[in-house]
Amino acid sequence: MSKTVLVSGGAGFIGSHVTVELAQAGYDVVIADDFSNCDETNYKGVCAILGREMPLVTMDFCDAVAVERLFGQWHIDAVIHFAAFKAVGESVQEPLKYYRNNLLSFLNVLEAAKRQGGCNVLFSSSATVYGEPEELPVTERSPRQPATSPYGNTKQMCEDFLRDAVGAYPGIRGVALRYFNPIGAHPSALIGELPRGVPNNLVPFITQTAIGKRECLSVFGNDYPTPDGTCQRDYIDIVDLARAHVCAVARMLDGRMKAGYEVFNVGTGRPVSVLELVTAFEKVNGVKLNWKYAPRRAGDVTAIWADPSLANKELGWRAERSVEETLAAAWAWEKRLAGK
Ligand code: UFG
Repeated sequence: MSKTVLVSGGAGFIGSHVTVELAQAGYDVVIADDFSNCDETNYKGVCAILGREMPLVTMDFCDAVAVERLFGQWHIDAVIHFAAFKAVGESVQEPLKYYRNNLLSFLNVLEAAKRQGGCNVLFSSSATVYGEPEELPVTERSPRQPATSPYGNTKQMCEDFLRDAVGAYPGIRGVALRYFNPIGAHPSALIGELPRGVPNNLVPFITQTAIGKRECLSVFGNDYPTPDGTCQRDYIDIVDLARAHVCAVARMLDGRMKAGYEVFNVGTGRPVSVLELVTAFEKVNGVKLNWKYAPRRAGDVTAIWADPSLANKELGWRAERSVEETLAAAWAWEKRLAGK
């Protein structure tokens, strides 16, 4: 009998790609989203890729009654929790909004999991928990640093909620996946990143500049202690990232976990500088990007990339796509959005 996976935030950038990979791997997927930070574009894209209407529940995970009702309506074998606010800067301006939404929604999921006598829970965490790392690449044993934003703090706190719930309530198993920098789009160009307003993140800013929606990309800082002076990150293809979720869900459902709570880095292990990313984008897509150096952006770490060997070994997963393939997919998506 096939297993049912609930994907909260399933209409968002990561959630939509994960839904596709789960459904293609044979899972029954229930998408839940409140559409507070996305429209129906990705939901419709998911249905188009899969060739069928996917079950969709429009709901707010901060509504405990609605979460309880959802768990009563479906037999949920595993839940992947994406539903959260994610703008680092906004979280500094409006910390209570972030704490309320990101913490309460996850508490409601855990309480529902407890009430039904157990569940497999996958939490979408972030490399932000490592702060400015002392050693590179970072492993799962690298220390978490005090969070520098309320957003980052919610990621750390939710990891702890999950760890403690697993420790206290039999039947709850948990995995936290720490994402590095997810970029790109589905090869079909039917789903992708849809930032509202001016993008905060690098790749959407690059594609919007290339298409003419933004005048010029600012490269924040050229005086970092890195080979070319710009920050280094571990850019992970969104479909590769999505596949890691399928591996983690299968591990939980098949009883292959080595502990009730496990943490995995999801990255490529390959550092790429801002300048290298810009140059690769121009080269693979044959476009000239208008960009300039600008002062450092507050809060940016100099360099971070993953040691993904634990995920490679335990999940049987590894990142496969090159950064060039990923940047080509991001550009195809932007062009499709623009009708070009
Ligand atoms: N950058 C630019 N210009 C831009 C946007 C970004 O030069 O217009 C640079 C940044 O300075 C950074 C790199 O591109 O060096 C990547 O920046 P992103 O904003 O794309 O990604 P971050 O590494 O800052 O963000 C990631 C995750 C967040 C997480 C954060 C923690 O996307 O979810 O790390 O610091 F919270």
